[in-house]
Amino acid sequence: MRTMRFGVIGGGLMGREFASAAARWLHLLEPISKPEIVAIADPSAEARAWFEGHHALRLSTPDFREVVSHPEVDALYIAVPHDLHEEVLCHAIPSGKAILAEKPFGIDLAANQAIMDCLAAHPETFVRCSSEFPFYPGAQRIVRLAHEGAFGKIIQVHAGFRHSSDLDPLKPINWKRQRARNGEYGCMGDLGLHVVHLPFRLGWLPLDVRAVLSNIVPERPDGKGGTAPCDTWDNALLVCDGTDGQQNFPMILETKRIAPGETNTWFIEVQGTRASVRYSTKRPKTLETLRYEPGTPQEWRTEDLGYASAHKTISGGIFEFGFSDALLQMWAAFMVEASGSQPPFGCAKPEEARMSHRLFTAALESHVDKSVVRV
Ligand SMILES: NC(=O)c1ccc[n+]([C@@H]2O[C@H](COP(=O)([O-])OP(=O)(O)OC[C@H]3O[C@@H](n4cnc5c(N)ncnc54)[C@H](O)[C@@H]3O)[C@@H](O)[C@H]2O)c1
Repeated sequence: MRTMRFGVIGGGLMGREFASAAARWLHLLEPISKPEIVAIADPSAEARAWFEGHHALRLSTPDFREVVSHPEVDALYIAVPHDLHEEVLCHAIPSGKAILAEKPFGIDLAANQAIMDCLAAHPETFVRCSSEFPFYPGAQRIVRLAHEGAFGKIIQVHAGFRHSSDLDPLKPINWKRQRARNGEYGCMGDLGLHVVHLPFRLGWLPLDVRAVLSNIVPERPDGKGGTAPCDTWDNALLVCDGTDGQQNFPMILETKRIAPGETNTWFIEVQGTRASVRYSTKRPKTLETLRYEPGTPQEWRTEDLGYASAHKTISGGIFEFGFSDALLQMWAAFMVEASGSQPPFGCAKPEEARMSHRLFTAALESHVDKSVVRV
């Protein structure tokens, strides 16, 4: 097992989640290369101080370029606001260092195109995009069922991500609620790749989309006694004509910041002629399945999967699996693949992020024109 020395670019919420996953590497039972954080770039001194307090860093700087070029940095984790994805990624990709970058992988289609062009010019660079929810045990079981052809003919796929803290109009504004930094996609840019990663990986692709987007809370406290425009889409409901390459079926994709009562609920429901499944992180160890043969009763079966992770860990199979476990599993998959082997389930690929941009861009057009737009 070797160590891969990481530079973190963006030491906010997700930068710290990575630091926590890296510090918990002994949780994994497999001999997977270990990430060691050796450098941080963040213009916020406070964000850097957190990393300085927890790691023996070789470099702490406001300038991400210094981290990219540092000779003791082997790999990069890029977790900056969306308006910086293009600049940081297009600077980092030519370095040849392995990169895990946060979604949406560019603030819009044009930024994503620039990133994809840069990748095409540097095919030697290993790059993946962050999306941890398909690493939940229930999601992994759905992958297995799909590979076994258990569903029969797909009737419908419904997937989504629901939050609710924005229901509070007094929640102060932040960059994720402002178009200039978060992007025109709004909630789709924030939550969308999480929703489509699994369907796309299974080859369930949208051919067209009719989208309804909502901006429910148009302004929020600015934290200084005034208000600021909250000019991003809070909710997006996308109804697509989907295909698995053989037949078409409805795909309903939701990204909602205002779904009353929901706290980071990622879910997917697949209906098929021979089997149907429901899985939600609301009940993270539980999978519901319905197997059907003509003449048999249609009965939903509830199974507690426990801690059935893709990469084995010290946690017993009866335990619960949660958000930080999903992140650890995603990072394990990244490290396996960055080291040249094939993980059981890989992180989201740049092409999958690209497809999500095409979908979200079509959704924006569909909402304006109230029309069905080809993806
Ligand atoms: N995978 C997930 O579950 C998940 C969850 C939340 C956010 N995200 C994604 O992670 C990324 C960051 O989101 P976050 O929630 O960590 O945001 P955050 O605001 O908590 O952190 C962003 C950090 O980037 C820093 N930053 C700003 N400009 C910079 C620059 N030029 N160079 C280096 N650092 C800079 C900020 O100071 C801040 O510390 C976004 O792309 C977001 O979509 C992913």
